[in-house]
Amino acid sequence: MDNLPNEQPTLDVLVLAAGLGTRMRSNLAKVLHQIDGRPMVNHVCRTATALAPRKVYVVIGHHGEDVKTAVLEELDKDHAEFVWQKAQLGTGDAVNSAREFLENEDSTLLVLSGDVPMIRAETLAALVQQHRNHRGKGASCTILTVKLDDPTGYGRIVRDDAGFFDNIVEQKDASDEERKIKEINSGIYCFDTKKLFAALSSVQNNNSQGEYYLTDVPALLRAAGEAVSLYQHTDAKEVSGINNRLELAGMERILRRRTISKMMLDYGVSFIDPKNTYISEQANIGRDTVIHPNVTIEGETQIGDGCTIRSGTRITNSRIGRGVEILDNCVITDSEISNDCTVGPFAHLRGKAKMEEKAKVGNFVELKKTILGRGSKANHLTYLGDATIGEKTNIGAGTITCNYDGIHKHATNIGNNVKIGSDTMLVAPVKVGDGAVTGAGSVVTKDVEANKLVVGAPARAIKTLDTETQKSAEASKCIDKLS
Ligand code: UD1
Ligand code: MG
Repeated sequence: MDNLPNEQPTLDVLVLAAGLGTRMRSNLAKVLHQIDGRPMVNHVCRTATALAPRKVYVVIGHHGEDVKTAVLEELDKDHAEFVWQKAQLGTGDAVNSAREFLENEDSTLLVLSGDVPMIRAETLAALVQQHRNHRGKGASCTILTVKLDDPTGYGRIVRDDAGFFDNIVEQKDASDEERKIKEINSGIYCFDTKKLFAALSSVQNNNSQGEYYLTDVPALLRAAGEAVSLYQHTDAKEVSGINNRLELAGMERILRRRTISKMMLDYGVSFIDPKNTYISEQANIGRDTVIHPNVTIEGETQIGDGCTIRSGTRITNSRIGRGVEILDNCVITDSEISNDCTVGPFAHLRGKAKMEEKAKVGNFVELKKTILGRGSKANHLTYLGDATIGEKTNIGAGTITCNYDGIHKHATNIGNNVKIGSDTMLVAPVKVGDGAVTGAGSVVTKDVEANKLVVGAPARAIKTLDTETQKSAEASKCIDKLS
């Protein structure tokens, strides 16, 4: 819309993510440690984009290339700008590294910390709004604060006698009296961009850590007669910073509990043991689905209504239809399972495996980049890789698609109503026509025509099967009774 009556300045976001995070005792940059299966910094970037900023600037330093790669999974290149902080001289210095991009911008700058991952977009929007509306003119800086029972480690908000902002004092520089203050700096702020950079030039590093603190800027602005406002938030968990692995595990637990409660109350999903179930925030699970203990659902997994997922199963980035039963100890990754299928126990689906409706995969069966057609079955001890299998086909116990010649992968194509005998080796590339039958122990090296019975090693045709009765009779001779 053009010519809005109260046109607001542009919003830019700056995410601080250059620190090493010494307290993590890790070889990985702190912001790359994962919560809910995604790096902390990605949570922050995703939330930031919900505010539709012009650009998200990410200050990188320690393991900068890795942080950049991770962030680009979340943000598109046109909306992200990476700013290198060469030496990690403090949060003030981190912001200063973006000076060349931002100092002359007539914008509102929302500063976020890469290690405060649970902040919600609604909270940030309210912060920006208060910043812009402060006393009808807007503030030069607005700080997101919260009161904590235990404020240890955080910068404290010192207010003057009238209750207005005075300054921020870091834990390490605070007097005993100041350490008693419960209101803390969340590390999230809104600034008038130009005023921020002007004040930043005066920040010194004469503090206990010898660092340039961003937290000195609000007091400098105030001393220059600028308005600094405080936005006190009530949800302490949302603004918790993560500085060590104990806090990381605590945050993971909070998020998981929140996701599972929402699924039970809003979506109608049953959890037998919610405390020992791990569900990604990005997953979607349908009504009356029952999740047993020790199940892990990762990434953007979709599960339909009325499914049962038994213990020990892990499902990652997959789509599961309605009425699917997944028995114990299955691993399902990047795959699709249609309505009314049965899987497991101990099955492994990966690499875009697909089961069409009412298909069945049993114990110790692996499907890789394979389509198992409607109503088809692979019930025992089988590897199906790079295969396409038609409808109502039975794959006997011990069947293997020999899909790899040491250099290349090759495809196996099996038609409808085929009966693959137990222990058949399908040496790809190979095709088996509709209605064909392979004898137990066949080594199929050549294409099998429709309705042929092949046996032996290498398998040769011995009979054409004309009628359904004949096929069934031959198949029952050839196929292990287990199937
Ligand atoms: C900071 C605040 C503190 C606040 C707390 C909230 C300062 C001086 N202190 O402390 O008042 O209560 O956050 O969580 O700002 N970073 C860089 N470059 C650096 C240093 C840090 O990019 O040179 C990044 C880190 O990667 C991190 C963020 O800035 O994402 C905050 O740094 P951190 O060292 O965790 O600051 P805190 O001690 O938590
Ligand atoms: Mg921190």
